[in-house]
Amino acid sequence: MTLRLGDTAPDFKAETTEGEIQFHNWLGNDWGMLFSHPKDFTPVCTTELGAMSKIKPEFDRRSVKVLAISVDPVDSHKKWIADINETQNTKVNFPIIGDSDHKVADLYDMIHPKELDQMTVRSVFIIGPDKKIKLMLTYPASTGRNFDELLRVVDSVQLTAKYQIATPANWNDGDDCIIVPQVNNEEATKKFPKGFTEVKPYLRLTPQPNK
Ligand code: BEZ
Repeated sequence: MTLRLGDTAPDFKAETTEGEIQFHNWLGNDWGMLFSHPKDFTPVCTTELGAMSKIKPEFDRRSVKVLAISVDPVDSHKKWIADINETQNTKVNFPIIGDSDHKVADLYDMIHPKELDQMTVRSVFIIGPDKKIKLMLTYPASTGRNFDELLRVVDSVQLTAKYQIATPANWNDGDDCIIVPQVNNEEATKKFPKGFTEVKPYLRLTPQPNK
């Protein structure tokens, strides 16, 4: 099944390194980030899971539950976690799904056979409290993800879910935002009391509303 933005994130039951979960129940009313790793005991993945463990408190602060997946069994993940903790000087602090039958990987179309045969690519799904997919990213196995960037996009999708704004190129939390075209100037004056600058009628900037 091809998943698209706005689709309901498929629900599933899975074994993880922290016990069995039913995905939607496990998410509760929080946001979620599901991200895949091609295989256990591989170098780039080892650095990624270490990086995620270190930055996880920032995801917690934003009420984003983090869930990793790799197409190996949970027993293997547990042995790999010991290596990750040792080599990346951290403690893995989120569950990793054991997906040796590719059930979840197939549900989320994470295996791209022309890139890698029996392993997933590096997929990222950010899911809202309404269980809808808010953002999808796909990286090749050879490119480790930038977890600061994942946090940045979480900030953007959470902000734009709440206010009628969009975030410009290279935006970071605290920067000016764009008022969406659906809001006319009269409404913008009411909705954005900090004011706005009209660079062009279609390009209006306002200070970040929640700062
Ligand atoms: C890695 O994590 O290093 C990796 C995994 C699969 C293919 C290539 C690289």
